[in-house]
Amino acid sequence: MKDAIILGIESSCDDTSASVVAGCKLLSNVIASQAVHSAYGGVVPELASRAHQQNIVPVVKQAIEKAGIGMKDIDAIGFTRGPGLLGSLLVGNGFAKGLSISLGIPLVEVNHLQAHVLAHFLYEEGESHESPNFPYLCLLVSGGNSQIIVVRSPFDMEVMGQTIDDAAGEAFDKCAKVMGLGYPGGPVINRLATEGNPKAFSFARPRVPGLDYSFSGLKTSFLYTLRDELAKNPNFVEERRADLAASLQYTVIEILMSKLRLASKQLGVKRVALAGGVSANTGLRAAFEAHRDRYGWQIFIPKFAYTTDNAAMVAVTAYFKYKAGDFCPLNLPPFARVTV
Ligand code: KG4
Repeated sequence: MKDAIILGIESSCDDTSASVVAGCKLLSNVIASQAVHSAYGGVVPELASRAHQQNIVPVVKQAIEKAGIGMKDIDAIGFTRGPGLLGSLLVGNGFAKGLSISLGIPLVEVNHLQAHVLAHFLYEEGESHESPNFPYLCLLVSGGNSQIIVVRSPFDMEVMGQTIDDAAGEAFDKCAKVMGLGYPGGPVINRLATEGNPKAFSFARPRVPGLDYSFSGLKTSFLYTLRDELAKNPNFVEERRADLAASLQYTVIEILMSKLRLASKQLGVKRVALAGGVSANTGLRAAFEAHRDRYGWQIFIPKFAYTTDNAAMVAVTAYFKYKAGDFCPLNLPPFARVTV
């Protein structure tokens, strides 16, 4: 039997994306990012909603063309229902609903965070690919989340630990901001870190029990270091940028990996996946590889294209739900906040 063809739509934040999959095989993934926010140092919700309105039709059209299919070939539409910015979500939700009515095909709602976790099942034609067996652990790290999730099946996920304040991506972004590095800061810190000494500065580590994370103390400690050093030398940040970035990145990775090691040990699970925007970080990827070599972990690291928000992961999640007959009614509203 041929695999179901799913159109995925993602509009939770500032990327408008559409993707077509046949089962878990990717046929297309189109992303329109919104440059408009960079001038404001963060995503402006109202501008994001407007840009989604401008982008959604051409993005979906392109995804269908690139996949080499016609509208009539689509078996179901999957869309990100939440969490995210409400105005942004409304654009994708409304579009998906309208299209499902006009095509007379089922609608599948997708939780954005679950989609990040299931992105590891996507594969491209001709690519050698290994999906994780269940159960596996997933470290989901983005601008809004830092979670350790145990994944027992596509529909059975449990958050074992999460941040009690800032997310890891937020720590990168906020520290980058005080160094005058622009937004988003994560990629800039990553680039600078390759030229710096990770042990040049030592920042506070959280003492949070169990598998939870905290990054606000690190942020404050970083801020105080800057304040104290700038009082002695006004050129401190310029002179030590690379060392500051490397030490910050080193500390964030240490915090993330120490709890992940604990989770792996406690649960006896050595299949460990990485997901979310911060998984683009090359230091974090290297730390995963080091843990594979040292602790015998089987690791799953996403391609760079699937670290940011994308509809391919939404489409593949919708495929799993479609197979299980898990459709949603047309009157379902989007939700802004929630975890997996
Ligand atoms: O998942 P994502 O695209 O969306 C949000 O949750 O907003 O994650 C974005 C986050 C931002 O905080 C950004 O600075 C961070 O991911 N990020 C990185 C890197 N690339 C993106 N952080 C560290 N190193 C990177 N290379």
